[in-house]
Amino acid sequence: MNAPLKGLAMQAPSYVKNAKLIAWVADMAALCKPANIHWCDGSAEEYDRLCQLMVDAGTFKKLNPAKRPNSFLATSDPSDVARVEDRTFICSANKEDAGPTNNWMAPAEMRATLQPLFDGCMKGRTMYVVPFSMGPLGSPIAHIGIELSDSPYVAVNMKIMTRMGKAVYEVLGVDGEFVPCVHTVGAPLEAGQKDVAWPCNKTKYIVHYPETREIWSYGSGYGGNALLGKKCFALRIASNMGRDEGWLAEHMLILGVTNPQGKKYHVAAAFPSACGKTNFAMLIPPAGFEGWKVTTIGDDIAWIKPGADGKLHAINPEAGYFGVAPGTNMQTNPNCMASLDRDVIFTNVALTDDGDVWWEGMGDAPAHAIDWQGKDWTPAIAKESGAKAAHPNARFTVAAINNPALDEAWDDPKGVAIDAFIFGGRRSTTVPLVTEARNWVEGVYMAATMGSETTAAAAGQQGVVRRDPFAMLPFAGYNMSDYFQHWLDLGKKLEAAGAKVPKIYTTNWFRKGADGKFVWPGYGENMRVLKWMIDRIEGQGNGTDHVFGVSPRYEDLNWTGLDFSAAQFDTVTSIDKAAWEAELKLHSELFQQLAHHLPKELPATKAAIEQRLAA
Ligand code: GTP
Ligand code: SPV
Ligand code: MN
Repeated sequence: MNAPLKGLAMQAPSYVKNAKLIAWVADMAALCKPANIHWCDGSAEEYDRLCQLMVDAGTFKKLNPAKRPNSFLATSDPSDVARVEDRTFICSANKEDAGPTNNWMAPAEMRATLQPLFDGCMKGRTMYVVPFSMGPLGSPIAHIGIELSDSPYVAVNMKIMTRMGKAVYEVLGVDGEFVPCVHTVGAPLEAGQKDVAWPCNKTKYIVHYPETREIWSYGSGYGGNALLGKKCFALRIASNMGRDEGWLAEHMLILGVTNPQGKKYHVAAAFPSACGKTNFAMLIPPAGFEGWKVTTIGDDIAWIKPGADGKLHAINPEAGYFGVAPGTNMQTNPNCMASLDRDVIFTNVALTDDGDVWWEGMGDAPAHAIDWQGKDWTPAIAKESGAKAAHPNARFTVAAINNPALDEAWDDPKGVAIDAFIFGGRRSTTVPLVTEARNWVEGVYMAATMGSETTAAAAGQQGVVRRDPFAMLPFAGYNMSDYFQHWLDLGKKLEAAGAKVPKIYTTNWFRKGADGKFVWPGYGENMRVLKWMIDRIEGQGNGTDHVFGVSPRYEDLNWTGLDFSAAQFDTVTSIDKAAWEAELKLHSELFQQLAHHLPKELPATKAAIEQRLAA
């Protein structure tokens, strides 16, 4: 079967001139043995055609065009609903380079493992050749990837999430570099075999070879497992590029915030998966903040490079949002709701009887819907069985240009100069609402030791506190201690250049009261905390020094328009000595785990905190 497929792969469109690419596609076709090869051009016509193909195949349902124009619903196999961290591998030549927080296998061993799995894996399917640029097309900071996938769902999602299409080949030219990304759902079709709506395989491998900058993904069609430009490329592979070249690839939103006088600041914030990045990036200032404006540059990933001006400049390498649906509504995130009016791909939300979508936390529940698993759902059924209409990790895929709060510089190749970094975990106890680091090293310590409760964004147990350094635990493509060192080195470099170094904050929107409910109102009200940070940047905000940084007192925040008492404030800001002693033990455990190459500044900072705590 090999010979004709080689022939097919050779039928690259005339505008594809990159010899390495053409040869690679031929090799991969010979290995995966697809029935067809489709070279994506990224046109609207192609998008429409692939969506229709999926409607015909039962993968997509077209939503009621009167309610949600040009929008579709996909529901996945119930076993394929989130990232699979235990099946994700960093296959560096040396185990130490992957570090203790990544799964590792020797490259040769992994290649030998994957070879038989990929052999014939695309039988009966079309192999889509998906050319994409992370970052503005042709800009010096952008990087090109080519994803080969047997999933049309991946092809259309990549069209929204990246700059995908023909123009990529012009940038690539005859000898340009690209990151090869191979993806298969791992469900070959034998002759005459009927397909299913969401093909996938129980066996899954999400594999990265950092030295050769390759990605191989097997068995899943969902999110970060399959849309390889996102976590696999823009974080795991790009973090390796950044280490080599002196820049950062981070799991961060980027926002602009403009004060009533028209002065604009830029903030990059790392919150773990499903911990509020999209929401914070689209924040609408509440009552009491008239004249303030927040605009979105990115909602998930930031590439950050030192500029000639000595400042750190951040770009969003993506072109769309793959965001969490549950909990999104007109009160929590009106900008997001407006983004979702049209041209959206929804995955694993519920279908209403009038052909629209619904999820928990969207607003009034419909009397009846079809849940994400295709079953009847009513509020009564939910009450009785606890059945969710939408999967907790249900998502929407939408173009950035749908966002009414999109920043005018969102696709500026120069990026935006960062004034502050925020690191924020999801903690029902212990960690106060906001703390400012007194210097870069203290900030790196806060980020490195951040803990967060696990969420539905990854398969596995939820609500368990784990260390999630820099919100990068599942995404750092190399040794975590070396990654800490890279951050410390960058800080030194910035300080040496004499520029104003970004301030570093840590936040926690998620402390709970005795009733188990969130005490802090969150969402738009997070503006009150953001404003305090800006005051601090301007050297104006007051606060109180404590064992690990500086936090605002009740009187240091603007409370206009919000009924939030000093007692409630105390519930979300108090620092409990015993809880922090226990917390620091967890920091010790992390440092033990990361002992190899752990920068000495980190245990030194911990010792200073312990001393202050004991005093
Ligand atoms: P990923 O796309 O997985 O990286 O997630 P994200 O960080 O962009 O998370 P997102 O903004 O989508 O929020 C995830 C969940 O947290 C949603 O259910 C939100 O409703 C909820 N959430 C976001 N911000 C807040 C907040 O300020 N307070 C509370 N209590 N919940 C929030
Ligand atoms: C995350 O899990 O942090 C996401 C979703 O942003 S995914 O693209 O699936 O990684
Ligand atoms: Mn994310």
